Amino acid sequence: MNESTRTGQSGFARDVDKGLSSDPKFLSSKYFYDEEGSRLFQEIMKLPEYYLTRSEMEIFTDQAEEICSAFSPDGQPFDLIELGAGDGQKTAVLVEHLLGTDSSFRFVPIDISSDSIETLTDKFRSRFPELEIRPEVGDYFRTLETFKRSSPRRKVILFLGSNVGNFTEENAVGFFRHLRDVVNPEDRLLVGFDLHKNPATILNAYDDSLGVTAKFNLNLLTRINRELDADFDIAEFNHYAGYHPLERAARSFLISLRDQTVTIGALGKKFEFRKWEPVFMEISQKYDLAMIEGLAQKSGFEIVENFFDSNRFYLDSLWRPSDTR
Ligand code: AVI
Repeated sequence: MNESTRTGQSGFARDVDKGLSSDPKFLSSKYFYDEEGSRLFQEIMKLPEYYLTRSEMEIFTDQAEEICSAFSPDGQPFDLIELGAGDGQKTAVLVEHLLGTDSSFRFVPIDISSDSIETLTDKFRSRFPELEIRPEVGDYFRTLETFKRSSPRRKVILFLGSNVGNFTEENAVGFFRHLRDVVNPEDRLLVGFDLHKNPATILNAYDDSLGVTAKFNLNLLTRINRELDADFDIAEFNHYAGYHPLERAARSFLISLRDQTVTIGALGKKFEFRKWEPVFMEISQKYDLAMIEGLAQKSGFEIVENFFDSNRFYLDSLWRPSDTR
């Protein structure tokens, strides 16, 4: 996903201004994904320490049949809707399985970035010529609202890759409540959660030995330099990651290595950084089963079935709207 298309340049400038004027300072991880950031994220997903992608892939490969038959047990046609297109590698496993069954479904990837939707659609069209694809560029909720009004088909919504982890728990409730408003009782939601585990395993995933995650974080400063005419000296900031086992939260920061002043031309402002001052960059919230049950319940959903990988590192949780809200 390309964030300048996602939010517009002025949104980026406004958010950078807000974050760097706050105490403590922060930058939003939603801006990580410019071209270089997206490339680095692809590299992260292949790192030996970054177990998340492999774990979800294992779940889909080993349990495709169980997962797919839970999507529409009564055999009704459905729309398989993916929020946040990504590279579609894991979804391809489910699509391939479904095409080999007598399920009647369409694939509907939704993303705000037309670039990622185009790339994904081309890839899926050439790999699965028989697949019906209806790509949608736009805001998730607005698009789902339109589907709710215009089509009686069941919706099976995928929110994969532990993307929910980049929300605080509170924001996750807000997100799923909003989703609850745009689904029907027969619809289903499959959410990928990274689970609490040995804190050292989690920490390594966000502090890899090749330093790719460090580059991924620092790339946001390069992006600010390029797009907002700033003069960050990248060598004067270090990546620092931590995992807090009580809060089940991994957080990453950039640490200023000295007292320094950075000018951001597009804002016409200077920002002071003290030696060792942290800039909060990203939360990667981990979950246990009780937290997932609580999240579903607070958002108006209930768990239909949970699919774990063999290490119990990761969980894809299938939800349906509950009667009570
Ligand atoms: C996209 N998101 C789920 C990743 C995560 O694990 O929080 C982003 C990431 N940040 C550092 N490594 C990967």
